[in-house]
Amino acid sequence: MKSILRLTVNGKLREDAVDETELLLDYLRGQVGLSGTKQGCDGGECGACTVLVDGRPRLSCLTLSHSVAGLSIETIEGQVRRGGELSPLQRAFHEKLGTQCGYCTPGMIMAAEGLLRRNPHADDDSIRQALAGNICRCTGYVKIIEAVRAAAGTSGKKAT
Ligand code: FES
Ligand code: FES
Repeated sequence: MKSILRLTVNGKLREDAVDETELLLDYLRGQVGLSGTKQGCDGGECGACTVLVDGRPRLSCLTLSHSVAGLSIETIEGQVRRGGELSPLQRAFHEKLGTQCGYCTPGMIMAAEGLLRRNPHADDDSIRQALAGNICRCTGYVKIIEAVRAAAGTSGKKAT
């Protein structure tokens, strides 16, 4: 059965008739038309579907749309600044070659964005921990860590 869902997606208020069993991943991709959020495992194991809910990373494949009513959702599309400028993380992934096929990249960037908002100067251990739930089949993770480190403005110092 459908009911009205009110929430904010990438800064815009929305009201949509949404089935009560619809997952946030399917709502964002299907109804809102934001296909940047990816479906990988569809079971909470790959992190490709990560979005921010009130600034915190959340797996949209495990989240019912109605459970985030009234909250602020951010997807990879919302990271691009006014005028089309890439966010610091998007730019760092591009410059540090943190992306190969790109399928995992939206989830990686959203997970890293959540980390850097809590801890703008996150060290390597914190970065690895924040990305532990995000799987990449291409890169071997080294370039991904380098990209997040560059965006964090740290030189990769270890946690003490
Ligand atoms: S699609 Fe959500 S964790 Fe894999
Ligand atoms: S770049 Fe291909 S899965 Fe990560």
